[in-house]
Amino acid sequence: ATTENTNIVIFGASGDLTQRKLIPALYQLFASNLLPEKFTVLGVSRSGYSDESFRDKLHKALEDSENVDSVTLSRFIEHLYYLSIDPSDSSQYGKLKARLDDLGQAHGTGANNLFYLATPPSLYGLIPQYLAEQGLNKESDGWKRLIVEKPFGYNTASANELDDVIHEKFKESQLYRIDHYLGKETVQNLLVFRFSNGMFEPLWNRNFIDYVEITGGEFLGVEGRGGYYDGSGAVRDMFQNHLLQVLAMATMEPPSAIRADAIRDEVAKVMQSFQPLSDDDLKKNLVLGQYTASEVRGEMLPGYREEPGVSDESRTETYVGLKMFIDNWRWNGVPFYVRTGKRLPTRVTEVVIHFKKTPHPVFGKDAPENKLIIRIQPDEGIQMSFGLKKPGAGFEAQEVSMQFHYQSLEEATLLTAYERLLLDAVKGDATLFARSDAVKACWEFVEPILEYKEHPDALFGYAAGTWGPKEADDLLKNDDRAWRFPCKNLTNTEY
Ligand code: BG6
Repeated sequence: ATTENTNIVIFGASGDLTQRKLIPALYQLFASNLLPEKFTVLGVSRSGYSDESFRDKLHKALEDSENVDSVTLSRFIEHLYYLSIDPSDSSQYGKLKARLDDLGQAHGTGANNLFYLATPPSLYGLIPQYLAEQGLNKESDGWKRLIVEKPFGYNTASANELDDVIHEKFKESQLYRIDHYLGKETVQNLLVFRFSNGMFEPLWNRNFIDYVEITGGEFLGVEGRGGYYDGSGAVRDMFQNHLLQVLAMATMEPPSAIRADAIRDEVAKVMQSFQPLSDDDLKKNLVLGQYTASEVRGEMLPGYREEPGVSDESRTETYVGLKMFIDNWRWNGVPFYVRTGKRLPTRVTEVVIHFKKTPHPVFGKDAPENKLIIRIQPDEGIQMSFGLKKPGAGFEAQEVSMQFHYQSLEEATLLTAYERLLLDAVKGDATLFARSDAVKACWEFVEPILEYKEHPDALFGYAAGTWGPKEADDLLKNDDRAWRFPCKNLTNTEY
């Protein structure tokens, strides 16, 4: 549709995110005929590329990738343009305005502009101001949208400040805050799975659910991003955004319709119901960890403090485990054990719902429990486990399971997170973007953790390649429970 014709402007165009994620995602959307008929991509940054050299660089970066066809790539590359300006200098934005006017006229893309802020976060407040000085926030001649990469703020105060500054010039409805976990097919499926199945929906509450685990594990360390990560840590990098979003999708109330605001109202509501962490919770229910050097499967891995860019006295956490509660009608009293970490044994993200046992344990108290494992990645799928009569004499129950894997679907190619999110932003669908109130609620929830990080006893060590500090196991052991060991083998082919 012509209303979707657009100029996509990427600030931070010479950076890593643009080359690794944004341009490949745009290429795939183009190759699948999902982009509007008329579109341009204008890269903006300080580096001195011309249109030609920018195209060359990206052509080279993409040509050897999987799923890239050379003819389609050449057609795609022709849509790319480049403008070298310093995005922190307001006096240069006149050039941007002029360039966009030209592109809009030459390509019939008009004045629909999608601005993607893929710059260092220190520019997130400035660029919207400078765009507005050129009238590039006004929608009289075409829509204007702003995609803001994470991190959105550094704590509650800075997130609120950023929000206020952007809102001076752009309306909330023009804002698309990226949380790439919402772009994941399996995270979206939490909604469909929960609200399209009469079989599970009635059980999805405190009456039938005993407790819930959410694991977001990574095998990789900080991968050359030590400089950034050391000022951030796992709470800001993964927990405040990605894991709390997943938790919200798993626990929100049903929306009245599949519409951006109806869904985001429920997301914000459940986030606002996270039980605030007391001092006692911080001491008893929170575990922060940092990985130490260790040999893993024959390879010696450095400790976090030895990583490039990381201070050798760093107290930044690379692991966080938390037992938390949601104060509402549905979830009162149900513990949620949420953990994420770098240098865990393997990469796995999953939500595990543990159902309560039957009222009277006729098959003994060790009879199998009912568990639903929602595997976000890798090997996306769902496993349900239940008890079955052990064949043979007597009546003994044993645990068995049924599995569904996305791989087995015919249309098994899932859109990657950035493909889905870019496509939605072009279409003007903000459902899968974090709304202001939700981001605030998450920052407010983690704020006590950010303060507690400074406490001298807050941090525990764990050997690289293990499931975090021993204290994290105790968190569940104290409740007579244990973290689910998330995969039978480390290649994740079995849950
Ligand atoms: C990013 C974090 O937001 O998410 C990274 O900054 C992390 O540190 C990444 O590795 C994880 O994303 P995914 O999609 O690989 O699970």
